[in-house]
Amino acid sequence: MQRAGILTGGGDSPGINAAIRSVVRFGYKQGVEMIGFLEGWKGPIEGLTRPLGVEDVSGILHIGGTILGSSRTNPFNIDGGVERILGTLERNAIDFLIAIGGDDTLGVAHRLAEHGVKAIGIPQTIDNDINMTDYAIGFSSALEVITDALDRLHTTAFSHHRVLILEVMGRDAGWLSLMGGIAGGADVILIPEERFDVETIHRKILHRQARKKHFSIVIVAEGAQPEGLEGQVLAEAEVDAFGHVRLGGVGQYIANQLSARMQIPVRVTNLAYLQRGGTPSPFDRILATRFGAASIEFALDDQFDVMTALHGTKIEAVPLEEALSTPRPVDSELLYLVNLFE
Ligand code: F6P
Repeated sequence: MQRAGILTGGGDSPGINAAIRSVVRFGYKQGVEMIGFLEGWKGPIEGLTRPLGVEDVSGILHIGGTILGSSRTNPFNIDGGVERILGTLERNAIDFLIAIGGDDTLGVAHRLAEHGVKAIGIPQTIDNDINMTDYAIGFSSALEVITDALDRLHTTAFSHHRVLILEVMGRDAGWLSLMGGIAGGADVILIPEERFDVETIHRKILHRQARKKHFSIVIVAEGAQPEGLEGQVLAEAEVDAFGHVRLGGVGQYIANQLSARMQIPVRVTNLAYLQRGGTPSPFDRILATRFGAASIEFALDDQFDVMTALHGTKIEAVPLEEALSTPRPVDSELLYLVNLFE
């Protein structure tokens, strides 16, 4: 019987538990014994484990977050981190690892391949910014939160004749803002892939007012960059273990700029971590279940240093080297959607 370890790293999202459930249930069916590592890569470094039998994953399909916990621990930033992982894997007789997470988590799995670690990645991040897969787990569920928020903001913006700005996550990619803005009917969509100009936003709002539309909804990605400002708007300059700053505040920046130009009240809502919570959408539950089972199939087929990837309706194994070589901004052929009705 083979033994496998599972870990979940980076920003969490709904759907992770559905993937864990599928890995465990399908794994046991294929004769693979599973153990869980806690809190991302911290688990293998510090030997933090928990049992993961079929009974341990009963009833978690619909529960957000991860029963294993997560962290942004980077073993390559810790003295002896890699050696401690190798020791933990040997002591627990682990044959292979399944790592669920975004580019940082999967990037560690890829780098460990050079140290003889057999690993398979499952792409999961609300940002949907992992290359070589149509979707990552979590994106669909975050879209549902954003769409619901925009529906709610429409009724109060209409009632009070206001400009309401919704700031959403996505780090350096605009998938959540673009697709959320379309689903929720935002009047202005701002994404990191295209610098924005406050005058243009102002002009679009005035154009709506001329058509007797006395409210406007603006959706802005946290990583969107204003013309004339050096870089992104940061909530915190300090970087995490993978060198990422904490973005936040671009919505308020726009509100301040617009308020200086117009009488109509401008208010900001930052969805922040609400986008990472709640129950997974049906799409994410299905994607996570398929990715989980596929990760076991790839392992039993001796395909490692790969990740599960959705291509249309097919699940395929993609080398992590390729998937992680470049970030995945919004496809250039989709940028027309930003001004679809202009
Ligand atoms: O990568 C997912 C994500 O939610 C990003 O959209 C966001 O910028 C970041 O994580 C927030 O990181 P943390 O959870 O460490 O504050």
